[in-house]
Amino acid sequence: MKRFRCIGLAGIILLILLSFDLSFAFEKVKFVVISDPHISIPQQKGVSDGFKLGLKTQMLTENTVAEINKIPDVKFVLLAGDLTQDAEPWNIDALRKILDGLKVPYFVTLGNHDLSLVPHEKKDQPVTLSKYTVAGAFIGKSGGMAPGMTYYASEIAKDLVLVNLDGTRPQVFVPEAGLNDFGGEIDPSQMRWLEAVLKKNQKKTVVVLTHINLVPWSEGDKTNHNSWRWFWMDNADEVKALLRKYGVKAVFSGHRHISTRYQEVDGTFHFVHPSVSTYPMRYTVYEMTPKGLKWDVKDVPAAPEVWELAKKNFLANKWWRGPDHPETPEGNQKYLEFYESPSTMKGEVTFKAAVK
Ligand SMILES: [Fe+2]
Ligand SMILES: [Fe+2]
Repeated sequence: MKRFRCIGLAGIILLILLSFDLSFAFEKVKFVVISDPHISIPQQKGVSDGFKLGLKTQMLTENTVAEINKIPDVKFVLLAGDLTQDAEPWNIDALRKILDGLKVPYFVTLGNHDLSLVPHEKKDQPVTLSKYTVAGAFIGKSGGMAPGMTYYASEIAKDLVLVNLDGTRPQVFVPEAGLNDFGGEIDPSQMRWLEAVLKKNQKKTVVVLTHINLVPWSEGDKTNHNSWRWFWMDNADEVKALLRKYGVKAVFSGHRHISTRYQEVDGTFHFVHPSVSTYPMRYTVYEMTPKGLKWDVKDVPAAPEVWELAKKNFLANKWWRGPDHPETPEGNQKYLEFYESPSTMKGEVTFKAAVK
């Protein structure tokens, strides 16, 4: 009898300790994800409005920041890469100035366009910056980037860890593709770092920020239509195996320029985000608890004529169309639906228990 009483007492103490510990974990965190601003200041030669509204990138990002500042209780902002046109110092400075207007901390990840062009002679004003210099411009208010690093982990709220991956590689021109390489991977030393970080934080809620996706979003991404295999990492399966092993809850990415969508793979929810500078210009507001995520996708504030131009240039573009998006009324409809992702403007998911 006495033994049972002791076990009962131990159980009560354990429950008290557990609830004591949990009471300190984050309860609800509101944050915003912006992606692919591709900042190109209009004063530079060669900047124009095409699929990306080059002349308006600065204004669109400024408007987004002003709007985010009006949303109550936002704790931080994530930028999912392709921060600049092609890593030009003047564009880095312009973006830094805009982001410093945010009332809350921000965390960035580099995109393929945040590495200088190779060869850079293709540009009128060639400047080559190392990616460490580009990343270094965003140390400071973000508190995330560490000197000499392009990936990091940061406990952004109690028991909520943000892991920022750098999947970029140099924008080398690839003659067979007729394009600059826009793909990526996580190199072996970063993989080792990632496993150590995930192991250390496996009792916490871990989310990942990356520019290049870990999953394909369309058939064309799988079949390499227009080199679209570069929209997701070469070693995505290897990275996802680690995320599964350590129960990572969510991945936030950009690069694909489609409006917010998600898919669940082995218990991890992968979210892709729209660009603020290409149609449909949007950003996403999230609310996270240790149990799940809610989101609301918002339009970037811009004049009706800017929206008209963005849509017109989007419809005129051939490269971003999938094999099932011919330039016919039906093809245009499918093309619009794929990029607008109308069914996931708002949503909610419940996190899964880790899949071992
Ligand atoms: Fe982009
Ligand atoms: Fe990109």
